[in-house]
Amino acid sequence: MKRMLSKHLEKKSIDDLVGIHHGQGLKRVLGPMHLTMLGVGVIVGAGIFVLTGQVAAQYAGPAIILSFVVSAVACALTGLCYAEFASLIPVSGSAYTYAYATMGKLFAWIIGWDLILEYLFGACAVSVGWSGYVTSFLGDFGVVIPDYLCSAPFGHDTTLGWHLTGAVINLPAMFVVALFSVLLILGIRESAVINNAIVIIKVCVILLFIGFGIMYIRLENLTPFIPQNTGNFGEYGWSGILRGAGVIFFAYIGFDVVSTAAQEVKNPQHDMPIGILGSLTIVTILYILVAFVLTGLVSYTQLRVPNPIAVGIDAAGPGLFWLRPIIKIGAIAGLSSVILLLLYGQSRIFYTMSRDRMLPGVFSVVQERFRTPYLTNIIVGIVAMILAGLFPIGILGEMVSIGTLLAFVIVCVSVIILRRTHPKLHRPFKTPFMPVVPILGALVSFAQMAALPLETWLRLVIWMVIGFVIYGTYGQWHAKKAPTKDEETFNPIMR
Ligand code: ALA
Repeated sequence: MKRMLSKHLEKKSIDDLVGIHHGQGLKRVLGPMHLTMLGVGVIVGAGIFVLTGQVAAQYAGPAIILSFVVSAVACALTGLCYAEFASLIPVSGSAYTYAYATMGKLFAWIIGWDLILEYLFGACAVSVGWSGYVTSFLGDFGVVIPDYLCSAPFGHDTTLGWHLTGAVINLPAMFVVALFSVLLILGIRESAVINNAIVIIKVCVILLFIGFGIMYIRLENLTPFIPQNTGNFGEYGWSGILRGAGVIFFAYIGFDVVSTAAQEVKNPQHDMPIGILGSLTIVTILYILVAFVLTGLVSYTQLRVPNPIAVGIDAAGPGLFWLRPIIKIGAIAGLSSVILLLLYGQSRIFYTMSRDRMLPGVFSVVQERFRTPYLTNIIVGIVAMILAGLFPIGILGEMVSIGTLLAFVIVCVSVIILRRTHPKLHRPFKTPFMPVVPILGALVSFAQMAALPLETWLRLVIWMVIGFVIYGTYGQWHAKKAPTKDEETFNPIMR
């Protein structure tokens, strides 16, 4: 029994992990500014452009502002823990690697499987948001895609449960997944220049929305600020704020990706925490302002739409019509870059786990000419197309949120464990107020998970059971303890 347990808890040595990458050929070119741009680039996406409307309409009303605050607190606390790991173990693999070094194989598997959930469902959710903005943009020019070809055939809400919507398939969402999967096979990644350009466009569009929208706010839309609870947990009132925080957490996802660029950072020990916390601070301020302006422009009851920011602009009246195409182009550009980064992240995590023999070798087969894990890209692309074509953004987003929150809880706990097991390790960045910060981080993250609908939990359980079956039949027998010499970096941006 003891031997079996220790097999599942086998760890990668931190010295090995750090040492193997020491002196490796990658250039250390990134500074804190680059990292912050990378963070904002991958964070700002469908969360703010799409889910804000859904959460305000279904769960929190104008008090979605408070949901954003709760979620930001969880992210900041966990971000400090991520920063300690990222500066201590500045290697590829993000939370998966951290867990492998601290808690062992089984937990690494759980986190890795969780990251797959985050990236795969995240890419699908953002594709559905992309579809909403693209169809609305095309509609402005008279190109109308019929509703039944650009929305999900399956719907879900608290009153009807699962139901058929009458739509057939979400073709634009499938198209964008297919397009980016092909680009990834060809080895086209986003360059830092393009990423920076898109970040600037995204942030400018958001600032325009805030700056001009604020002049058209109607106070009656903001009252009552916390709509009365309907009697059901999570439908408005304080429980709605907490459930809203759990769902809107999706909007913050991605700052962990910053930690994956550690190997190319000039001074990871110093720059990483700035990159992670800096990007979080910027997006938190933007999100709170957007939520305030949006729910001030239009009643929250009308925001259950695929393009809430555009609806907000429409509600302001003709004075802001000029802003409509600009907002939509900004949203489409911004969402495109998030989809690409998430699909890339997805294939890389499969690749890294396959290299560790946690997953079958097929996922790390590299195409000779393009040097890309093309089989992974094809498999991931097909699965993502199916999910994006069939399901609504709310369901996909909630899956991402619950999966990532679970990863956060594990990261917070890992920081405490590592302090105990390796107290002497040189920690260039230390999470302050130990162990209060990680404990609070784990608790707030867990509270957000707990507030999510029961069905989301059931879906998470099903996902994890599938994961354990794969681990039990494959991963546990094949996984290697030592990292491979040629272990790949997991950096989503090419320079
Ligand atoms: N945070 C990312 C988004 O909102 C996943 O699209």
